[in-house]
Amino acid sequence: MKTDTIVILSNRELDKMRQAGRLAAELLHHLEPMVKPGVSTLELNDEAERWTQAHNAKSAPLNYKGFPKSICTSVNEVICHGIPNAKQILKEGDIINIDVTPIVDRYHGDTSKTFFVGTPSPVAKKLVEVTEECLRRGIAEVKSGARVGDIGAAIQEYAEAQGFSVVRDFVGHGVSHIFHTAPEIPHYGTRGKGKRLRPGMVFTIEPMINEGTWEVEVLKDGWTAVTRDRKLSAQFEHTLAVTEDGVEILTLP
Ligand code: MF3
Ligand code: CO
Ligand code: CO
Repeated sequence: MKTDTIVILSNRELDKMRQAGRLAAELLHHLEPMVKPGVSTLELNDEAERWTQAHNAKSAPLNYKGFPKSICTSVNEVICHGIPNAKQILKEGDIINIDVTPIVDRYHGDTSKTFFVGTPSPVAKKLVEVTEECLRRGIAEVKSGARVGDIGAAIQEYAEAQGFSVVRDFVGHGVSHIFHTAPEIPHYGTRGKGKRLRPGMVFTIEPMINEGTWEVEVLKDGWTAVTRDRKLSAQFEHTLAVTEDGVEILTLP
């Protein structure tokens, strides 16, 4: 459900977000050593589901608006919302974004990283490094009184200066007991524009950066978003809380 009101979380709610965020980060860390040539994206999904249940949590993506699996696995030209599949076997040189969102005591921890399968090509390596730096630069803008547009501007300036493009069709989002809520956090934009950030606001920053065009196509499965030119796309995501004196990254192990 998407709501228009930006909520300010209480300290009690922030504590629940910290628990969910930490579990999300630990899940990604747990899956990382499985990312090798020969593994299927379904095997990654099934281990994520098993591990999540073993930690008394739930997988938010499963059945979310009809999404059929527990995590998103987005390989190479897939921008986001890739569906794990037994027939999709990772191979040397691929890049894969794994996006996890466990629910702990009703609260959501949403984080993703792009991993290399074996040794990346030079352009894949640069794209993934630039995308991680985009997330860092976006996070560096987060403080009470700053504007949502400051985040997008910082990301867009850096990505485009490196010769890459910023996806427009998917944005960061408020997250709490609701998976996707206000505010929207575009990864492009203008400094000084947009809503003001206030302590207790919790949202994701999750830039999707493309090697070529920023334009998106959604495949016939209704979920898998790919680059229109089928060139590479990378993504990193953290869930963040605005604090009195800056920002707290909630999705760290
Ligand atoms: N975790 C994704 C995000 O960052 C959302 C996945 S929704 C799903 O917002 F339905 F595709 F799982
Ligand atoms: Co998200
Ligand atoms: Co996510």
